[in-house]
Amino acid sequence: MSQVFHEIEKKIITSLKETSKQTPENLEKSTNLSPDQIRRGIEWLKLKDLAIVAESKTSLLSLGKNGIEAFEKGLPERRLLDALKDGPKKLAELQKQLGPIFGPAMGLARKNEWVEASSEQISLGKIPSELPGEKILKNIGTNKISKDQINENELSGLLKRPDFIVEEIVKTKEISLTTSAKSIELSESSGAIDVEAKVPEVFVARTHPLKDTIDEIREIFVTLGFSEIIGNMTQSSFWNFDALFTPQDHPARELQDTFYLDKISAKKIGNPEQIKKVSESHKKNWRYQWDINEARKMVLRTHTTCVTIKHLAENKPDEARVFSLGRVFRNEKVSYKHLVEFNQIEGVVVGKNATLRDLMGIQREFYKRIGITKIKFWPTFFPYTEPSLQTMVYNDRLGKWVELFGMGIFRPEVTKPLGITKPVLAWGGGIERIAMLKYGLDDVREFYNNNLDWLRSATKCQ
Ligand code: PHE
Repeated sequence: MSQVFHEIEKKIITSLKETSKQTPENLEKSTNLSPDQIRRGIEWLKLKDLAIVAESKTSLLSLGKNGIEAFEKGLPERRLLDALKDGPKKLAELQKQLGPIFGPAMGLARKNEWVEASSEQISLGKIPSELPGEKILKNIGTNKISKDQINENELSGLLKRPDFIVEEIVKTKEISLTTSAKSIELSESSGAIDVEAKVPEVFVARTHPLKDTIDEIREIFVTLGFSEIIGNMTQSSFWNFDALFTPQDHPARELQDTFYLDKISAKKIGNPEQIKKVSESHKKNWRYQWDINEARKMVLRTHTTCVTIKHLAENKPDEARVFSLGRVFRNEKVSYKHLVEFNQIEGVVVGKNATLRDLMGIQREFYKRIGITKIKFWPTFFPYTEPSLQTMVYNDRLGKWVELFGMGIFRPEVTKPLGITKPVLAWGGGIERIAMLKYGLDDVREFYNNNLDWLRSATKCQ
């Protein structure tokens, strides 16, 4: 594996190969890098698992006020002994010469028999070449020194003296290379920046591709002058089926196709006029005994067309451009092209001169905006529209036509009972279908798999 390293990393690795454990301060000296460069270099190497940072606490010793004085002028006892070098002296004379240090110095010197005292005078006794503590004073000097470099026994004497030694606890870091870093062979380099070097991939939070598609569709409708209408996910059968002239024995209403809310019936499904007219339309045109209890049964909406028809029945607009968008439910076997719940988009145009031609024109425009240009229309059947069409769009990747939106002009059997007098163009279909085309997926379940690899790789802009 050939890795590319930054100059800073190279210098740190090289230095650590020579001396295996170093503090950041040592590294600064050995590499000639700034503290900031060292800090960054260590972070990079840590991320790549090439460096280990061990943190530890050490005790640092430096000299206090009296310690410094002793360092500069000698220990009090040393000064006392020095004063006796040229011969014995009287106590009073020594006292005068040494001042306040005389007492402590004299005590120590007598205890250790470095001096001999008679009533007359004080003279030198047996003195070692180096007094206890002198070596430490010299070692520390004006520096700070780690406690474990110093002999504890010798230190204890100095620690007892006031203001001789100052002890401070500091946290230190020690950097070392990991095993894999030790085997790195650093190549000579020109110091140029490798703009193609691999960087760690970051995965920032992002919206789900399906959500992006929904937002895009909403945006297109709004740009085309449509406003959004919103409806409930649970609906009475009346609005999901009856108002849409779907007979009560229609196969779509069966349990195998539709989810019913268990034992829940709507008390109020519409106003008496609406119920009366809708039921009459069923009785007259489909010729069967319409049952209001069937219409009361609550369902998870099977399409968004219930939102459309309810909106039209409530507002009876002479002119309108609205759309709705949301989740619908069908009791189907889940497969690569079917889900039990999915999203639909539904559009409606009301206008006295609205025609099938307009309907197809709007489809073309919508598909163009979403990026689909190869489309055709195919006749089909819905209980509530006449004529009814289906858009087929060409899937280049699969080389075949796939059906997308259903559409048509609402039948008078639907509009009249609800007091809607102007022609209504309506269309709708699955959003997942569109998203599959957009993202080149062959299995609709992929949108709900939470497959992070795919979610991360799905293109944001197309
Ligand atoms: N509701 C139909 C479906 O779910 C689509 C459609 C909407 C058809 C409006 C005609 C009019 O497939």
